[in-house]
Order: sequence, then structure tokens, then C-alpha cells
Amino acid sequence: MARKFIVGGNWKMNGNTASIGEIVKFLTAGNLDPNTEVVVGVPAIYLKDVRAQLPCSIGVAAQNCYKVPSGAFTGEISPAMIKDVSCDWVILGHSERRTVFGESDELIAEKVAHALDCGLRVIACIGEKLEEREAGKTEEVVFRQTKALACQIKDWSNVVLAYEPVWAIGTGKTATPEQAQDVHDALRQWLCKNVSKEVADSVRIQYGGSVTAANAKELASKPDIDGFLVGGASLKPDFVTIVNAKC
Ligand code: 13P
Repeated sequence: MARKFIVGGNWKMNGNTASIGEIVKFLTAGNLDPNTEVVVGVPAIYLKDVRAQLPCSIGVAAQNCYKVPSGAFTGEISPAMIKDVSCDWVILGHSERRTVFGESDELIAEKVAHALDCGLRVIACIGEKLEEREAGKTEEVVFRQTKALACQIKDWSNVVLAYEPVWAIGTGKTATPEQAQDVHDALRQWLCKNVSKEVADSVRIQYGGSVTAANAKELASKPDIDGFLVGGASLKPDFVTIVNAKC
């Protein structure tokens, strides 16, 4: 089964009403490849506005959510709230959530399970730190993170994995296409052995970390790279070139 290429723009904690208006303009005017699925990860406070402004062909994702439907969790949002403002996606387990906010593999997996139960589609992020790569522990780390997810995920059809080596995020130091392909291939083999061949063959694995208009095409040519999760470049018109990397 062919895996549809999927490119996400993770805006992180950037933008305001005016600059988001500019992004909406280039997304709606930009001749996006219809064979590529596009999702933008929007700060929670702008989700409803952005959903109203973009065509339904472009998915809108929250960048986080909590693991229960409602309650005394000051500052959190729930999958039910994301759905209530007509958004269908959430990004979970981003390395900034893991490192800045101390989220564990287990908490992230619980969030993923609850989001899926509520009918959201999930981009679940994994990736090793520089010292882990240098210690030869890349596979150990991404397998551990994926195992925590796999323990909670019953149905993978609404899950996209994003492999984002932490050392490549926001650093301008992209993984080489070969480095990324090797990890994606290893992840697929892990899924085949520990989940099922069907999931291994069908789950889409995005690469994230300093993806630019200049390097996207070569990365996209690798057989196990099924799209990108783009940070900085998703705020600029270059994002359209990245979306169209398979053309
Ligand atoms: P950059 O593209 O800015 O390196 O960020 C990647 C990322 O963290 C996407 O989630």
C-alpha cells in the first residue's frame, strides 16, 4: 500500500494574528501538491481562527493536549476541546515537551491513547539527543519511545510517527538523508517485529529537524521518509516548496 506523503508545519510558540494571516495567505495561494497531505500545528489560542481561515484540505493540529476529557488541570486543553473547535489533529511528544516540560514516555503514550480514543489523528514525535547519538544509542532511544507508544495504541490508522533527532531541531544541522533513512528503516523493522507487518508497511514516518526548501527534495527521495515535520521553515513561504518536495 502506498503511503501518502504528509508534511506538517509546527509553528511552535510563534506568530500573532497578523503574521498568521500571512501564513494563511501563502498556504491558500500556494499551489500545494494535492498528492501530499498538509497539516499545520497551531498555538492553541489560534486554533479556531486558523481552522476557519484554511480550506478543509489542510489539517489543523494542536501542539499538545492532556490525557483526560476535562477537570482541574489549569492551563491544559483536552482532545474534546480540540474537536470542539473543528480541528482533527494533535502533535504529541515533541522533544520540546519532553525536555522543556519534562514529559515522560509514559505520559506521552497516555495522551496519545486518549487523543486517539477521542477521534483525533496524532503526530507522535520521537528522537534521540546528541549525546545519545554519539554514544551509539539512537536505536535504543527511539525503540524505547516507540515501545511506550505501542503499549497504548490499539489502532495505528490515525497515527503518524515523526522522527526528529533533537540535535537537528532548530540547529540548521539536518540529518543526512542516509541517517534519516536508516532510522526510519529501523523503526519500520521494529514495528514489523513488535506490532505487525501491516502497521510497519502502512504507518507514515515523517522526518523533522532543520528541513528547508533546499534539502527537502533529497530527503523526500528516501523510501522510508513519508513526509516532514517542519519548524522554522513552516512560518515562511518556503514551506510550500517543502510540501511540494515530491513533485
Ligand atoms: P526546525 O524545522 O525549526 O528544525 O524544527 C523542527 C521541529 O521541531 C518540528 O517539530
